[in-house]
Amino acid sequence: MTLYRIASIPGDGIGREVTPAAYRVLDAVARRHGITFSYDEFDWSCERYLREGAMMPEDGLDRLRAYDAIFLGAIGAPGVADHVSLWGLLIPIRRAFRQYVNLRPIRLFEGVPGPLRAAKAGDVDLVVVRENVEGEYSEIGGRMNRGFPEELAVQEAVFTRGGISRVASYAFELAGRRSGRLTSATKSNGIVHTLPFWDEVVAEVAGGYPSVTWDQEHIDALCAKLVLDPGRFDVIVGSNLFGDILSDLGAAVAGSIGMAPSGNLNPERDFPSMFEPVHGSAPDIAGRGIANPVGAIWSAALMLEHLGHAEAAREVTDAIASALASGATRTADLGGSATTGDFTTTLLNHL
Ligand code: NAD
Ligand code: IPM
Ligand code: MN
Repeated sequence: MTLYRIASIPGDGIGREVTPAAYRVLDAVARRHGITFSYDEFDWSCERYLREGAMMPEDGLDRLRAYDAIFLGAIGAPGVADHVSLWGLLIPIRRAFRQYVNLRPIRLFEGVPGPLRAAKAGDVDLVVVRENVEGEYSEIGGRMNRGFPEELAVQEAVFTRGGISRVASYAFELAGRRSGRLTSATKSNGIVHTLPFWDEVVAEVAGGYPSVTWDQEHIDALCAKLVLDPGRFDVIVGSNLFGDILSDLGAAVAGSIGMAPSGNLNPERDFPSMFEPVHGSAPDIAGRGIANPVGAIWSAALMLEHLGHAEAAREVTDAIASALASGATRTADLGGSATTGDFTTTLLNHL
């Protein structure tokens, strides 16, 4: 029996509703594979911030360090400014644990009423590989002259050779294991320093992967093509901000932001990786038990895969696919009336 210790951070809003659903599925599949998960729950959240003045304790990162993985629901609530809550918890975890790859698969499943007339299940099956610790999300900058007419804000995007080449290498490796096609998201026509540098480093990395066919697309055109012809893409590698935006766009193309998963990966395994749905805390639907749990459940499958249980992971994604294909039980974002718990029960039956 293999035991994995998971640091569980349900967080805020629907994060607290979708994490229990993911654990029900994880525990069910684990039993069949001789695996056990133990979850230590941390109440780090906006509620904690309002109570104690911080999203997590001062030694919070140290407390997470020894876990096999971190599972997170979502962070953010109307009473706390988003940059305070996210920079107080989620983003420090990604950075401290060098989770420089944010892996975000997108699939249009059979039976899901996607918004695009032309897209068919099977055609839309791609992965966004998002750079996750530098780029536009930078700590360098500041505000001056607050409250005066000459008030200003400066934020420096930071792109490093090491940072670009390691995420590009990860993406090329992944493309080699999938269809052998990769697209690099850029904007080197308008952004004159950082993105021409991104293009150069990606091209250098590409030289090491002659069997991968690749191209680069400016992010604006790429967004249009992702809507008009999503089937042309397999692996898309992009900077932190481009990858963020592309993953919500891709999720919408595939039917719902509620179904997109993510793995914040430290490929060297020097630190725990973190798994979380792409969506946020959804204050507009929180507390009603109607969130789609697929993003969280699929994130749990990514965690299984990361921990070396590819077969168990595939059983989970197959159960997602067959539960959606049967169409009998759907959450509200897919036009149904099932609760989070109902859909999870259906999925467990398919598992
Ligand atoms: P959001 O993803 O929370 O919600 C966007 C829309 O999608 C809402 O209408 C919501 O109801 C819907 N939605 C999201 N997940 C769903 C699900 N599982 N099932 C059904 N519908 C779902 O994005 P937002 O509104 O921009 O952000 C809300 C809060 O979440 C903010 O505080 C934001 O900063 C935070 N946020 C956190 C994370 C994270 O913790 N990883 C990610 C994104 C946003
Ligand atoms: C995501 C989220 C976060 C991000 C926010 C909440 C800071 O949108 O994980 O996609 O931009 O990384
Ligand atoms: Mn996002």
